[in-house]
Amino acid sequence: MNWTSKAEQLLDKTPAFIGDKLRVKLEAKAAQLNLGQIDSHFVKKHTHNDQGSATKCPQPKVSDSPLTQAFARKYAVHAAMMGGTKREGNLQETLQQEIMQTPQNRPGMAYIHIPFCCSRCHFCGFYAESSIPAVMDSYVNALALDIARSGQLLKSAGQQLQAVYFGGGTPTDLSAENLKHLLETLHKEVPLTADCEITLEGRLYGFNDHKVQTVLDGGVNRFSFGVQSFNTQIRQQVGRKQPREEVIERLNRIAELAEPFQAAVIIDLIYGLPGQTETEWLQDINSAINNTQIHGLDLYQINIIPSTPLMAIKDKLPPMANLQQRANLFSKGNQTMLDAGFTRLSIAHWSRDLRERNRYNSGNKRGDNCLPLGSGAGGRWGAVSFYQQSDINRYQDAIKLGEKPLAMGVTMPPHYPITLIAIDQLEQQYLDITKLEEAAEHPLCSDLLPMIEHWEAAGLLCLKPSGKAELTEAGEFWVVNLQYLIDVSLKEILCAK
Ligand SMILES: C[S@@+](CC[C@H](N)C(=O)[O-])C[C@H]1O[C@@H](n2cnc3c(N)ncnc32)[C@H](O)[C@@H]1O
Ligand code: SF4
Repeated sequence: MNWTSKAEQLLDKTPAFIGDKLRVKLEAKAAQLNLGQIDSHFVKKHTHNDQGSATKCPQPKVSDSPLTQAFARKYAVHAAMMGGTKREGNLQETLQQEIMQTPQNRPGMAYIHIPFCCSRCHFCGFYAESSIPAVMDSYVNALALDIARSGQLLKSAGQQLQAVYFGGGTPTDLSAENLKHLLETLHKEVPLTADCEITLEGRLYGFNDHKVQTVLDGGVNRFSFGVQSFNTQIRQQVGRKQPREEVIERLNRIAELAEPFQAAVIIDLIYGLPGQTETEWLQDINSAINNTQIHGLDLYQINIIPSTPLMAIKDKLPPMANLQQRANLFSKGNQTMLDAGFTRLSIAHWSRDLRERNRYNSGNKRGDNCLPLGSGAGGRWGAVSFYQQSDINRYQDAIKLGEKPLAMGVTMPPHYPITLIAIDQLEQQYLDITKLEEAAEHPLCSDLLPMIEHWEAAGLLCLKPSGKAELTEAGEFWVVNLQYLIDVSLKEILCAK
């Protein structure tokens, strides 16, 4: 087959072990179409939804400073796992079948979406609806029906849930009455394991003692609060309302109220916010460790989302850390957490003690079954991912008609379970190809080894004699890229089986 020089150049950009296979596939496709020549247009067209990610997402560069230079950018998180097929037909019946087929000894989880916030933070891509009391009341009535009906389905299948996550948006913006209503419905209608983890996400602003006591009495045993930064100026620049002193006072008051219930208090901090240098970042982490009674901490890198207000005003704000500076903030943050004796539960998540079970988050990363509840919620049961109607009016209309408001279903691709195992391993800072081979029942090693050896040369992991590879600090920072690349590779190897 004749290749134009531009087409050859495109192929050259892919790593050798992918490029060779891609060449064979493209030539087969061209022959099928009776083409005598492959040009760059053909390569782009036929690699876009298939191995296209391999051409778009190069392998790491070998350099003296892998932490800051291994890649030019961070890849979209798990974008390649989108390679599923849209599910046609009655989604409600599909969900029912998937739940009925699940072995009863594997408790699932539920994600309950509350799409309201009293104000929008400049950096956030999750904002959906303003917290208007009458709108929230009406939504909660529909949501309670969604919860109760799904509870009946779980009961008839003999299924239990071991983790429930109220996420948002800002669930803590709901009134105490609405929170009580939802928690009572959950306990009455849904089969939960005796030790079920029930998380309420939200923010400290407006989450008064009465609400806190109501949800603790209602069974919430884990809080996840977005703090983002303790620095008053940095917080207020990105649209957070409370000053440092108030944030610390509220956090400690909530931890005090949570103590008799043994409930865990977790917070999120973000690094790379406008005007946040290493000094402010380390002050933030040290404030969390030394000035509060929290049980766990998430350290997130700022993700600059094009559609957010931050993009529009960023030139008027102090500068944000570039990628190299963020890599250094990541490194300093990890060191501070280790020095303080925290345990790493995943790349970004740390626990102070065993109070933080982190059941929902780790189940989510492992791909445990998760029921979506509420408008805009996503979940997956068995081999199908489900997405609920994101328009709150249409969501409520469907509930009134007695339907489960599922808007879309996607059957996950065949390599997906193995990708999930690899992603989970990488979150635990290692890669064990032998375990992947056992799970896939396929000799993956010979296909994957050239790439893993290249990652070792690029300083992202260390291969041990056992065959297990351990991530270096640089590998931890670039983990989303490694997860992406392993997903692309597994898709290539296993879907061609
Ligand atoms: C969906 S929000 C819900 C938390 C709650 N509404 C709050 O703001 O406190 C969950 C977390 O996502 C993180 N987050 C949101 N937008 C982000 C961004 N652009 N970059 C990094 N983290 C972000 C924040 O740390 C936030 O606490
Ligand atoms: S960070 Fe939280 S409160 Fe702020 S807009 Fe996003 S979801 Fe709402």
